[in-house]
Amino acid sequence: MRDYPTVAKTIASLCAGEADAIAKMATISCELYNTLDGFDWVGFYRVVEPELLKIGPYQGGHGCLVIPFSRGVCGACARTKTTQIVPDVDAFDGHIACSTSTKSEIVLPVFQGGELIAVLDIDSDMKDSFDTNDQRALERILEDAF
Ligand code: SME
Repeated sequence: MRDYPTVAKTIASLCAGEADAIAKMATISCELYNTLDGFDWVGFYRVVEPELLKIGPYQGGHGCLVIPFSRGVCGACARTKTTQIVPDVDAFDGHIACSTSTKSEIVLPVFQGGELIAVLDIDSDMKDSFDTNDQRALERILEDAF
């Protein structure tokens, strides 16, 4: 069971009064990665031009630098503006494998003023590591922060 209330409180307190999106992304990825079990890669991909994501602050091994909206789980999230839960990455057609150890992932949209500014990608080395409890808690953290 992941302790979302505690990490949410820490993130809210660290980001209080901060307007800079990159500063908040760096803080959120650090806190989630270092606090919650089974989070083996945590990072943001930012919308930098129409239909294009570029790597933002992250924790873990290096990720690919550029992802078009047409590709991968991150692209599907950006295209649909909805959270994507992938219990088994091998079963997701078009999954972009940045690390061979990744077995499941969740990707959430990040909105600021109603506009999609980024996606938050969290990868796990275990299959089926994310469910709707994770989705709800993470969506809440992002809503409060941005
Ligand atoms: N797996 C993602 C790409 C990003 S890396 O996992 C860091 C995807 O399919 O969009």
